[in-house]
Amino acid sequence: MRQSVLVILLLLNFIALLSADDEAAQCLVCHQETTPGLYLQWYESPHAMSEITCIDCHGADPSDPDAFLHEDSYIATLVTPGDCGVCHEQEAEEVGNSYHATAGMILESADAYLANVAGGHQAMVTGCESCHGARVEIDPDSPNKLAATSWPNSGIGRINPDGTKGSCNACHMRHGFSKAQARQPEACSKCHLGPDHPQKEVYEESKHGNTYYTNVDKMNLDSYSWVVGEDYYIAPTCATCHMTATSDQPTTHDVGQRLKWTLRPPISKFKDDHETKRENMADVCQTCHAGTFVDGHFHQFDAFVELYNIKFARPATDLMKIVRENKLLEREAAFGNEIEWIYWELWHHEGRRARHGVAMAGPDYAWWHGLYDVAHNFYFELLPAARELHHPEVDKFIDNLLSSDPMHQWLGQNTKDLKQAIKTGSIRDIYNPLYEADK
Ligand code: HEC
Ligand code: HEC
Ligand code: HEC
Ligand code: HEC
Ligand code: HEC
Ligand code: HEC
Ligand code: HEC
Ligand code: HEC
Repeated sequence: MRQSVLVILLLLNFIALLSADDEAAQCLVCHQETTPGLYLQWYESPHAMSEITCIDCHGADPSDPDAFLHEDSYIATLVTPGDCGVCHEQEAEEVGNSYHATAGMILESADAYLANVAGGHQAMVTGCESCHGARVEIDPDSPNKLAATSWPNSGIGRINPDGTKGSCNACHMRHGFSKAQARQPEACSKCHLGPDHPQKEVYEESKHGNTYYTNVDKMNLDSYSWVVGEDYYIAPTCATCHMTATSDQPTTHDVGQRLKWTLRPPISKFKDDHETKRENMADVCQTCHAGTFVDGHFHQFDAFVELYNIKFARPATDLMKIVRENKLLEREAAFGNEIEWIYWELWHHEGRRARHGVAMAGPDYAWWHGLYDVAHNFYFELLPAARELHHPEVDKFIDNLLSSDPMHQWLGQNTKDLKQAIKTGSIRDIYNPLYEADK
């Protein structure tokens, strides 16, 4: 009933609108026929309710680099954060300041080099750039139209012809542009999944994901306001922890504001101002959990990150440095040698999976897809591949590590003694940050 009243009101609105603004009306009338699916997505959106029509977003100045004449109007196909920001200034500013906005600058990365040489350039376009964002270019043969080599693209750090970075419809699917949709984990999981950053999989296995998927109908997703603990309380989504409001914190479009660590590099690092950022995250948790529970979780998480850093990431990184400094690799081209792939998978895939698993309470990723793989790789792939190089400095480094670092000495001991150490708890004492002191 309410729905049909709304529709009638909306129709009345549009009749008024049609006579008031011919240009806006023409887009609607013609596109209702030519692209009816697109038209209906828009028609049911909050924008249509507020009389924001095609021309408000697509209208362009003839001098814009991507403007073209379309049925008597200058329009552009791209609607960038700069265009949305005319009406949504704060969101556009936060997106521009976020790490997401830098995601298109990957050309210099080792990942990009690897994809270009070991894969092939087209892998960059359809793989990397679809998540990270392409530099959108104008087709030199068709005045001001977008080049097929760089668009379609809705990567999170897309580099737009107007100089802005990102694309709002990476999360807010067009032409609904709804916040209800962006609040759900699916909005993030086109990109945040897979062997090197399995946040989607971690979430799905966590109790948070479990509770969410079995209670989606109680999430109050369509509510105008969506403050955790006030408008809903059943489970957190990705957006709850990383973006949306609590009773004490506003919504932010800068997804880095609640992170203490950067877990992406080989050795995890603190972010700037990391204590405040940790407090911001803990504030979210404490809507549903007690302070001691939350502190316990973060104690376990931080200790795990330190363990990964100290026991595996640092020695593996130091070992590779010795290998490179002594020019021990057969082929000069980076990634032309197997040991480089082994090291890469240790931190870029396995080590990230482990860290992400613990951060977001996914135990299978912490261990079986995580530190288990790291340990197997380290002892039975990386070290043997390094031994194969038959170099005294490499051998000395490994011998020293295995004999004098208590976290690696187990390899030289017997099972009975080790089991006893586990039983008495003395095994725990050796996992202290000793590696640094030893150097
Ligand atoms: C008389 C019909 C008609 C009118 C009026 C019209 N369009 Fe279109 N528009 C089309 C058709 C048909 C296409 C698809 C062309 C194609 O497939 O190449 C299109 C394509 C587009 C595209 C994609 C262009 C591209 O090459 O990427 C946009 C954006 C667009 N229209 C927006 C608008 C806006 C905004 C208005 C109002 C200012 C408008 N249209 C008015 C018929 C119309
Ligand atoms: C709230 C802003 C907004 C409004 C209103 C809007 N669009 Fe769009 N439109 C976008 C965005 C964003 C994109 C994706 C372009 C990009 O990647 O930057 C897009 C893309 C398009 C495309 C090309 C992509 C495709 O899937 O073919 C067409 C055609 C188009 N819009 C037509 C329309 C028409 C017709 C209307 C009115 C019924 C309309 N748009 C209303 C923001 C808007
Ligand atoms: C279109 C792909 C894409 C989507 C959709 C996406 N992200 Fe990201 N996200 C990325 C990429 C790529 C990076 C790494 C950025 C870089 O390399 O500069 C990233 C980084 C992040 C970071 C780390 C930020 C930092 O400061 O270190 C967080 C947190 C994050 N995303 C959360 C989210 C959440 C939550 C959502 C959904 C609401 C989401 N992302 C949607 C691609 C995406
Ligand atoms: C499925 C989407 C997706 C694809 C495909 C993808 N990435 Fe990423 N990439 C991400 C996400 C998401 C992150 C951030 C992960 C995190 O913070 O845990 C990321 C992180 C990175 C980082 C680390 C950035 C930093 O500052 O630490 C680099 C570099 C990178 N990607 C380059 C590439 C390259 C090059 C390719 C193609 C060979 C590629 N990525 C393919 C989604 C993707
Ligand atoms: C990483 C995913 C993501 C990206 C990218 C993103 N948004 Fe959002 N946006 C969200 C989420 C999640 C919400 C829901 C916030 C809430 O419920 O409090 C939201 C809400 C909004 C709202 C509703 C107001 C509010 O704060 O609740 C507006 C307006 C908005 N976004 C505009 C934009 C614009 C403009 C851009 C591009 C400059 C953009 N968004 C990019 C995820 C995203
Ligand atoms: C001409 C002004 C204008 C432009 C341009 C515009 N919007 Fe909006 N937008 C609005 C208005 C008005 C509302 C309704 C505000 C409200 O109800 O609080 C809205 C609401 C929204 C919402 C909240 C939807 C919901 O579910 O309540 C999102 C998300 C959003 N816009 C995203 C975008 C994105 C992304 C773009 C660019 C692609 C964009 N807007 C361009 C005016 C605009
Ligand atoms: C219960 C809250 C919670 C949920 C739900 C959640 N996260 Fe996280 N996320 C965290 C915490 C806590 C961290 C680590 C924060 C720190 O560094 O202190 C984190 C870290 C991250 C990072 C940074 C990884 C890096 O390499 O530095 C990304 C990206 C991310 N989450 C994305 C997501 C995505 C995508 C989802 C949904 C599929 C999600 N998160 C669900 C709490 C959550
Ligand atoms: C909207 C409410 C909500 C928020 C916010 C929330 N959680 Fe939870 N969390 C739950 C629920 C519900 C459970 C399942 C409780 C149970 O075991 O029955 C849970 C379980 C957990 C568990 C137990 C995992 C297990 O497998 O036993 C941990 C750890 C946890 N949360 C940590 C966090 C952290 C850290 C944050 C903030 C980054 C957070 N939670 C934010 C609702 C929430």
